[in-house]
Amino acid sequence: MKLNIALLPGDGIGPEVLTQAVKCLEAVEESFNHQFVFKKAPVGAIAIDMTGNPLPDQTLALCKEADAVLFGAIGDPKYDNDPKAKVRPEQGLLKLRKELGLFTNIRPVKVFPTLISKSPLKEDIIAGTDFTIYRELTGGIYFGEKKLNDAGTIASDLCEYSEKEISRIAHLAFKAAKNRNNKLTLVDKANVLESSRLWRKVVSKIGESYPEVALDFLFVDNAAMQIILNPSQFDVILTENMFGDIISDEASVIGGSIGLLASASVGDENALFEPIHGSYPQATGKDIANPVASILSAAMLLEHFQLFEEAMAVREAVDKALKKGVVTPDLNPDSKYGTNHVGDFVADNVVDNHDDLNMNDENIGLGKSTII
Ligand code: IPM
Ligand code: MN
Repeated sequence: MKLNIALLPGDGIGPEVLTQAVKCLEAVEESFNHQFVFKKAPVGAIAIDMTGNPLPDQTLALCKEADAVLFGAIGDPKYDNDPKAKVRPEQGLLKLRKELGLFTNIRPVKVFPTLISKSPLKEDIIAGTDFTIYRELTGGIYFGEKKLNDAGTIASDLCEYSEKEISRIAHLAFKAAKNRNNKLTLVDKANVLESSRLWRKVVSKIGESYPEVALDFLFVDNAAMQIILNPSQFDVILTENMFGDIISDEASVIGGSIGLLASASVGDENALFEPIHGSYPQATGKDIANPVASILSAAMLLEHFQLFEEAMAVREAVDKALKKGVVTPDLNPDSKYGTNHVGDFVADNVVDNHDDLNMNDENIGLGKSTII
């Protein structure tokens, strides 16, 4: 298969982790005889520095032409605490999502058995966790009208949803539940918000066409609690933009590190793959950022194009790295491995799916020469 992939490294650790994902895709190319053509473009703070625009026209055009976009991370502290900043890196990502029509963000949350002890939560609580969040991505409070009065003393952000915006993602979420364990939980705040009541109405109606899927509802405050108390009760969670943003960060602690969670953002015509973590500026250039979320985002890209065997090769190579302790310091503070080593190890194991018996543990840290 030939795929044109736009690479948007972005800010902070984005370029470092994206490089590891690209290594893995190149390993897939080599092992499975595909052709991936990569083209890179700036987005975020780096794009503001270069052009004044967090999403330059050429970057957007490249993404629109590409079959898929692989995204690093966005954000820079110099903008975070400046309420007066007119241009912000995040605007680049939000505009990209909107322009590409990426209305569904899919965030799988799964406990890796080898990492179960790394989670701050008790093992018996998180064992068996395997759910997917379907987060609406191009509507709601993120994109509603924003107002600030002339005196700068009153501000508002409108949370607006149409039936159409709800139903297109709801269908995808029901289909996902059908392919998984037939359970869908709508997370909302229908006891307070009119927009949530519309979500309930539309999703309930659509649910009639998916009789095999058990649909239930949870207020977002309760959901936040249930995700920590009993995460294995969930199969597919469907929710609006901001609730999804918040509960997916919360859910990331289940697996032990936010550096493990990948995501796919899909629309009718485009698809973008990115880790859920941010740009982690404190770690930039230190070779300590966890590349797993970015690598698993590349696996989701492969799955999007039905390249299931290829995606499995990447996932198995990641599992092997975790099992062998080839991890970054967020997962093991004493680890001697950095971002690059983890990327090399995973890519090497995609090319050659060696069994453990042939692996020289002594040489794991040497990256390319891990295999004897
Ligand atoms: C995410 C991020 C973004 C969001 C930011 C960077 C705009 O937190 O992808 O979850 O809020 O959607
Ligand atoms: Mn977020």
